[in-house]
Amino acid sequence: MNLNILVLPGDGIGTEVTREAVRVLRHVAGKWNHALTVKEALLGGVAIHKTGNPFPPETERLAADADATLMGAVGLPEFDNAPPEKRPEKGLLGIRKALGVYANLRPVRAYPSQLDSSPLKNHLVEGTDMIIVRELTGGIYYGTPRGITESGAEVRAVNTMTYTRSEIERVARMAFRLAGARRKKVTSVDKSNVLENSQLWRRVVTEVAREFPDIALDHMLVDNCAMQLILNPRHFDILLTENMFGDILSDEGAVLAGSIGMLPSASIGDRKPSGAQVGLYEPVHGSAPDIAGQNKANPLGAIGSVAALLAYTFNLQKEASAVEGAIEAVLKSGKVTADLRPSGPPATTEQVGAAICDAI
Ligand code: IPM
Ligand code: MG
Repeated sequence: MNLNILVLPGDGIGTEVTREAVRVLRHVAGKWNHALTVKEALLGGVAIHKTGNPFPPETERLAADADATLMGAVGLPEFDNAPPEKRPEKGLLGIRKALGVYANLRPVRAYPSQLDSSPLKNHLVEGTDMIIVRELTGGIYYGTPRGITESGAEVRAVNTMTYTRSEIERVARMAFRLAGARRKKVTSVDKSNVLENSQLWRRVVTEVAREFPDIALDHMLVDNCAMQLILNPRHFDILLTENMFGDILSDEGAVLAGSIGMLPSASIGDRKPSGAQVGLYEPVHGSAPDIAGQNKANPLGAIGSVAALLAYTFNLQKEASAVEGAIEAVLKSGKVTADLRPSGPPATTEQVGAAICDAI
């Protein structure tokens, strides 16, 4: 198979973790005889530095041409006080929208060998295995009107949470289809006791559920969900929610997995007319400027995103399983970075990448 991949290392530890992810991808391509072409482009703070734009047109063109895009992380503290339009994060929002990847799948698993890495009691996290399906190209992240206006001594800031029926339907269908291959259960999370936006969300998800009679649907309010994720994480199989709730809840999910460095993600949209699955693959974590450039970052979220890329864009299930199996084996071996609190000396980012290739 020909694998044409665009890599966007981005900022901070993004460069380090994508280097290991690409190493794993090359290893897989070599072992299973796939022709791999890797191009690199700019996104985020590094793109602002070099071009003045967090999502340069060249990056958009290369991403549209690639079969799949692998992203590291974006964000640099020097832009903390910049307006939203001039921030690295704007680049990430731009590419998600440009590729139309409206469903962000964030699997959260508690690996048996990692139970002690979670600050929660083992009996609570044990057996956690869910996918958070986060709507990714709508909601308050993109809604208008937005902005800050000053009049006289007063200042007013506005953001708008907006969804249409079709935006909710397509991501809900994705969630129900995924549930069919799992424990056949969707929990839809909203704030319908307060927000009209969530009332529409709940209504449309309930309607879509009728197309999937073998899947059980329950609804949960987002505040209660934040609590249930910690109290009873095994309740969840597919957790379906809107953009900002999904952003927040998936960081909470990281506590169940032991470290945010563990979480991969796949952002997918509709198939191209050729049948190819468009996909943007990125770890859930950020650019972690505090540990950038120190060869300390956990590359497993990025490497897990490679497994997702192989599975979703190329349907290479054997190769994807090999990467996932290698992650499990390396976790069990204890050769892990400091965030997972190993009993011995922590491994470096590079050592973990090399260990994954060996295990494959
Ligand atoms: C994530 C991140 C991004 C988001 C930021 C970097 C824009 O937190 O992917 O979870 O909010 O979507
Ligand atoms: Mg986030």
